[in-house]
Amino acid sequence: MNTAFLLKTHPNARYNDSLEVLTEAELTAVLGEVPLERTDVGGMIFFSFDADETRRLAVRQSPNCAGLFAVEGEKLVPLEIEKRHAVGADMAHILKYSGKTNPDFTDTMLFLAEAYAEGAAGRLLDPCCGRGTTLYAAADRGWDAYGVDTDKNDVAAGVQFTKKYFEYHRVRHKLARTNLTVDGRVGGERSLFTYGEGRELAFVRGDAGAVGSFFTKKKFDVVAADLPYGVQHGAENGALALVRRCLPAWLGVLRAGGVLILSFNTYTTDRGALAALVPPEQAEALPVSAEHWVEQAVMRDFLLVKKR
Ligand SMILES: C[S@@+](CC[C@H](N)C(=O)[O-])C[C@H]1O[C@@H](n2cnc3c(N)ncnc32)[C@H](O)[C@@H]1O
Repeated sequence: MNTAFLLKTHPNARYNDSLEVLTEAELTAVLGEVPLERTDVGGMIFFSFDADETRRLAVRQSPNCAGLFAVEGEKLVPLEIEKRHAVGADMAHILKYSGKTNPDFTDTMLFLAEAYAEGAAGRLLDPCCGRGTTLYAAADRGWDAYGVDTDKNDVAAGVQFTKKYFEYHRVRHKLARTNLTVDGRVGGERSLFTYGEGRELAFVRGDAGAVGSFFTKKKFDVVAADLPYGVQHGAENGALALVRRCLPAWLGVLRAGGVLILSFNTYTTDRGALAALVPPEQAEALPVSAEHWVEQAVMRDFLLVKKR
């Protein structure tokens, strides 16, 4: 065991247990079958394992990594491997609102998606993006990020925040607003930011099932969403119904070897029923799971699906 990973702590003891479960999933995604040893040193939790430089760099990008050390006999020597930030570590954290997905959990989803995807990831779609937590986490990884949400107020708040963030941090950017057509009618409004060296971040106000019309020229490396916990959409009631209706469109815009990751509340959505919606000739539901406590009414897990 040549490497020790120090787990970040959280003041809530139950959520701390959740961080452990999520971190084990992240480490397994990067290290595969390599044995992991967990040690508790006076409340500091370490995971030790054997890793080369490439894997050390990969695990350092975990949102739950408080530090990485080389193990030299009884000594731990800090490794100077930086966590990379393409935009700003704070971008996904600043906005506070009810219904926001925990930005660290969001980053874990992106971490897992990248680890399981074939080839590099650089373009993300969140079809249920709310005010954009996933988009900011992806932008901070250096990816182009595109989000869709039906909620006009959430989309407007996300666009307004992005503009302010870029202005405050003096990031050169342009904002272009366009109406998008679905079945011959206006079915969405896109707010597209171009910034930095040709990077893009966009919000579309529209329906998650229409992503095939909104993004006709693009394929995504990662499609990631924190599914609504109790959605009411016409006759549609629940995350399962939303996925049943929209999954063909989401898989349609995902490139071969790309990954779809959906987080859901296991109290209200059955993992088996969700996985059964994945057409086996098009994609594979991976046997990866990390069920963890979030709050009284929410026990969360995710489904990882790889496109063939
Ligand atoms: C759990 S929230 C996601 C929150 C988001 N990750 C954030 O941090 O802001 C689920 C989102 O799904 C959106 N939603 C529900 N049904 C939708 C649909 N048919 N198309 C697009 N978005 C939808 C809701 O408006 C809500 O913003």
